[in-house]
Amino acid sequence: MSQTTFNIAVIGCGHWGPNHIRTFASFPEAKVVAAADVSRPNLERVGKAYPGLMLFDDHRRLLAEADTHAVVVSSPTSTHYTIVRDALLVDKHVLVEKPLCRTSAEGEELVALAAERGRLLMVGQVFLFNRGILKLKEYLQFGDLGRIYTIVSTRTNLGPIRKDVNAVYDLASHDIAIFDFLTGDTPLEVSASGAAYLQPGIEDLAFITLRYPNDLLAHVHVSWLNPRKVREITIVGDKKMLVWDDLATVGPICIYDKGVVREPYYEDYGQFQLLAREGDISIPRVPLEEPLKAQARYFLESLRRGKLTVSDGKSGLAVVRTLEAIQSSLAQRGAPVTIGAAA
Ligand SMILES: NC(=O)c1ccc[n+]([C@@H]2O[C@H](COP(=O)([O-])OP(=O)(O)OC[C@H]3O[C@@H](n4cnc5c(N)ncnc54)[C@H](O)[C@@H]3O)[C@@H](O)[C@H]2O)c1
Repeated sequence: MSQTTFNIAVIGCGHWGPNHIRTFASFPEAKVVAAADVSRPNLERVGKAYPGLMLFDDHRRLLAEADTHAVVVSSPTSTHYTIVRDALLVDKHVLVEKPLCRTSAEGEELVALAAERGRLLMVGQVFLFNRGILKLKEYLQFGDLGRIYTIVSTRTNLGPIRKDVNAVYDLASHDIAIFDFLTGDTPLEVSASGAAYLQPGIEDLAFITLRYPNDLLAHVHVSWLNPRKVREITIVGDKKMLVWDDLATVGPICIYDKGVVREPYYEDYGQFQLLAREGDISIPRVPLEEPLKAQARYFLESLRRGKLTVSDGKSGLAVVRTLEAIQSSLAQRGAPVTIGAAA
């Protein structure tokens, strides 16, 4: 009989890690047994909130001493590669926060190691479990918008400001994962401009243009140096258009039955004019569910099935490849960079 309950440990208990402890602890099929953090105060904070957790100030000790099936890695991105590798080497399944790691060479090694060890490697691309984004995927899959011309995303706020990675790795990793998920493709080419105002060499903001197959042009504006928190995506198709706004109060999606039509000039055969077609605006019902909880449920189901299809290591690696290409374009002040095909 396949296993149905799983012991989970969380490594990295700063801002985000405690949310993983809370969500996994809410499932009867999961038992959060241990936590690790190099910061004593952070460790003591989760120890107080969850008495009975085994606490470790070194992830290697946790991996050696705690009885766990899987670990959630929620430490800074710069530490992901080492911690995920250590966990896979002792045959733990892993859910690692986005982005998977910093370089594609590291990512390739982790994906190969997970396969070799027969362990699940999932990347916490939480927006792939957001009900609004899942609805967008449905619209695109069923062709409701027609041919997709462009997807434009804005992700801004004032902070949180990272020290180990720039706003591209921290924020655009979400948008690239969403674009890849929605299109079912990965970008062919990127060009990006950015600026580092607060810390030398760490971009606070970037304007990123990505070319996907089928002549689909996508754009991302990310910034942690902006007065407004915005989480918004506009998709323009040749039949309809829509806007997803994660922070909207009425509903996250507005569908605009708008488009452009070609009207012939009768007096001049073969000529036409382009006219705006204005239709209704509708707001579909999107059920509410905490995406992090949906992600945790999916990870537990995947552990039970021994199989993972959404947000696996390979798709996480594809995101890292794009991040690397963006980084290279930033260094060349916006020069287009071709993204290497996945091996
Ligand atoms: N999916 C999301 O929406 C989302 C939101 C926030 C953060 N994140 C991701 O979660 C991760 C953590 O982000 P955060 O905001 O919690 O950062 P944070 O800086 O608040 O917390 C990181 C914690 O990891 C600890 N840490 C550092 N090195 C460690 C090590 N070697 N071993 C164990 N612990 C270590 C730190 O002491 C700190 O407590 C990042 O990868 C980030 O991208 C994802």
